[in-house]
Amino acid sequence: MKVLVFWDVYWRVGRGGIKKELPGLIKKHKPDFIIANIENITSGRGPIEKHVLEIEDLGVDVMTGWDHFLDNLQSIYDYLEKTDSKLIRPANFYEQSYYKIPGKWYKIVEKNWKKLLVIHLIANTFMKFDVYNPFLKVQEILKSLENEKFDGIFIDFHKETTSEWYGMAYLLDGKASFVFGTHTHIQTNDELILPQWTWLISDVWMNGPLYSVIWADFESVKKRFLTWLGWKIEQNLWNDYVVNGVCVEIWDHWKCETIEKIRIRSKL
Ligand SMILES: [Fe+2]
Repeated sequence: MKVLVFWDVYWRVGRGGIKKELPGLIKKHKPDFIIANIENITSGRGPIEKHVLEIEDLGVDVMTGWDHFLDNLQSIYDYLEKTDSKLIRPANFYEQSYYKIPGKWYKIVEKNWKKLLVIHLIANTFMKFDVYNPFLKVQEILKSLENEKFDGIFIDFHKETTSEWYGMAYLLDGKASFVFGTHTHIQTNDELILPQWTWLISDVWMNGPLYSVIWADFESVKKRFLTWLGWKIEQNLWNDYVVNGVCVEIWDHWKCETIEKIRIRSKL
């Protein structure tokens, strides 16, 4: 079983890059499933429904939304509530009775006689939400699904700190196929297979503008850094993009055999 995973499809340039590159990557890798993270897809913020549908049309099976997923809540509320919604939210928001938080905590996708589970969690440290303990939540979800058999279990852990990240990855060794970190927007070179056959990688950058400070124009960011004043951050106007992802191959039940990094630099 093969799964393509793409991190953070960022803004107009990220959408354009993934639209241009994905057909070729599908032809080359022949994935059973595709996962994409889209927290900054709409002008550097959370998705509107139109952009979710654009990514769905490319053949993506699961999308995750991270800490920005509620930025355009009105636009995606109904989509999140659909039974066949491909966008899932972090599993560990506190559930409460005052306002319903829309969306699913995890997604099970069945295709090509294969069954994939994707869980999306958000860390505590330096993130803008106060969330339920992600270490407890992931174990609770896995326990609730212990009678189901999966061909692959993928965990997207959205985090800021390396310590929390590695703690999560080691906690899930032997329980998940692939644990991948997101949010820090820098490609790490630490892909590793743990003793009990779980692969990890701390972060694989993003799909978005190549010559940018994450996504922003450097000159506008420079004013902020030199003055500490709240100058408006402008979008980067270059059309050069980078498409980043990983092709994960699983041979034996949920155990992940290989991961191959994908990095393409080109122009819209
Ligand atoms: Fe984030």
